[in-house]
This record gives sequence, C-alpha cells and structure tokens, in this order.
Amino acid sequence: MTPASHPRGRILVLFSCKGGVGTTFLTTQLGCLLALRWQLKVLVIDGVHPFGDAALMLSPSEPKATLGDLLHHPERFDEALLESALLWPQPRLGVLAATEHPLLDGTLPRDGWPAILEAARSRFDCVLVDGGRAMDARMMALLRVADCLLPVLQTTLPMVRDGRRLLSALIAQGIDPLRILPILNRVNALDEPHPKTLDRALGTHIVHHIPEDAALVRECITGGYVLWYQAPFHPISQSLIALARTLIPAPEPMGNPPRGLLQRWWKKQWRWNPQHL
Ligand SMILES: Nc1ncnc2c1ncn2[C@@H]1O[C@H](COP(=O)(O)OP(=O)(O)O)[C@@H](O)[C@H]1O
Ligand SMILES: [Mg+2]
Repeated sequence: MTPASHPRGRILVLFSCKGGVGTTFLTTQLGCLLALRWQLKVLVIDGVHPFGDAALMLSPSEPKATLGDLLHHPERFDEALLESALLWPQPRLGVLAATEHPLLDGTLPRDGWPAILEAARSRFDCVLVDGGRAMDARMMALLRVADCLLPVLQTTLPMVRDGRRLLSALIAQGIDPLRILPILNRVNALDEPHPKTLDRALGTHIVHHIPEDAALVRECITGGYVLWYQAPFHPISQSLIALARTLIPAPEPMGNPPRGLLQRWWKKQWRWNPQHL
C-alpha cells in the first residue's frame, strides 16, 4: 500500500506516573503482538527522556538516528528521514529509539511532535509511544493528538493515589475520558484488594488487568523474547490479546505462534506454576 493510500494509523500512548511499573515492557510486547498476530505495520516510538530503553528491549542494533535528532531539527524532517532512523526488529515492526544523550539533549522541544506523528500515522497502521512518566508540556502535546491514552498503574497505595490524581488532571486538561483506558499491571490475585475497591479508589472502572509473573517477564526482557510468541497461552499473553482487541477495531488476527513441542512445553510451564492454578 502506498503512503498516499494508507489510512491514518492509530496513535496509542502508554505512560505512567511512576517509573518501574511496566510501561516499556507493555509497550514493546503490545507492539510485537500487533505486528505478529494482527499482521499490522507497527511503529514503536521511545518517547522517554532521559534513559529510554524500548529500542534496547526490541533490537540489539544501534540506531542511526533517534527521536531526539528528529525533534531537534524539525526543519530537516521528512518521511525519508523518519524511515532512515528506524530499526526493524521484525519486518512489520519499526522502532524509533529514544534520545541517546541524557544531558547533551537537555529538554526536548515539543514543536517537532506533530510532524513526526503525522508522518508515522500515514505510513503505519499503529503507532505505539512509550511516554514514560513525564507529565510536561511535551507529553501533553502528545496526549492531545493520541487516539488512545493508556496510563499504566499498579495496585500499591501510592500508585492508586497517584493514578487517581493523574486521571483527574488529564480530565481537567480537557482530555475526553473515553479516550483514556487505564491498565492495571502486575496484578497478583492472591494479595490484591477487590477489583471493586480499586475501581472506587481510582474513580474509574479498570477493564484491563495484566497478571504478575516476575520470573517470566524477567526472562522475556533479558532474552529479548516476544511473550505472545513464546508463551501464547500464558495469562499475560491472553490479557495483552484482550487489550489489543479493544484497541484495534480490525478483523480477527491472522498470525499464529509456533505449534508443536515448544508450545506444549510453555503451556505446561504455566499450568504447573501454582500461581496460575
Ligand atoms: N506483569 C509483570 N509481572 C512481573 N514483572 C513485571 C511485569 N511488568 C513489568 N514487570 C517488571 O517491572 C520492571 C519494570 O518494567 P519497565 O517496563 O522497565 O517499567 P517502566 O518502563 O514503567 O519503568 C521490569 O524489570 C519488569 O521485569
Ligand atoms: Mg521505561
């Protein structure tokens, strides 16, 4: 499909009010899922500054240019420059790496965002941005144009309180609540408050819960695995599939994970894990 005839891709931004809640893990795994199972052309943009690591989780290669290079030189920006900056860990999955130098780049200008997002959505079916935890003017400029805002929350008390503050602040800024789809990550059914208690505390109904499995997620990150590909029946994969179905109003997925021994081994792994019984 030529860029001219490509329908506008959806822009989805994952972000959080604290670091370490799983924003990057979920952005990268969701990107892989949409590219492999949904067969969509997906771009993951690492918008975290400083110290973004989404590209590192997806590809061992060094990028030729980063988001910082594109934002700092809006006068030079065009679609060819965007294309030349991308890494391609999968044929349908492009990655725009985060700004490299934490100090030299200083505060990133926000005026370059609209051109980059326009170019990205005209070439990709879906643009996933890892927004990290910054709640500044640059982030708001991004959130205003996004089709769906995905704040990643956890169930700890400080996180619930900050999550409520974050959601109220976004609505006070004029963001349509229907565009906000909070995700609760690292849900461990054994020691969680009741979902209704959480909904009341957060002031909204949270539909998407991603279960906790520290060992598997660690293995996935260090090994650079696509979780859905390696463990399609794991509860985290299944929750990500349910989330993707909500986000992408497209026909049923076409791609399939490998079958046979590998799949059976993984099925056994999580069935034998008492946490998932
Ligand atoms: N569902 C999960 N279950 C267990 N561990 C998780 C889960 N999601 C994320 N983690 C862990 O949380 C840590 C932080 O994840 P990361 O995606 O880097 O967070 P952030 O981008 O919000 O700082 C990672 O080390 C990862 O292993
Ligand atoms: Mg991160």
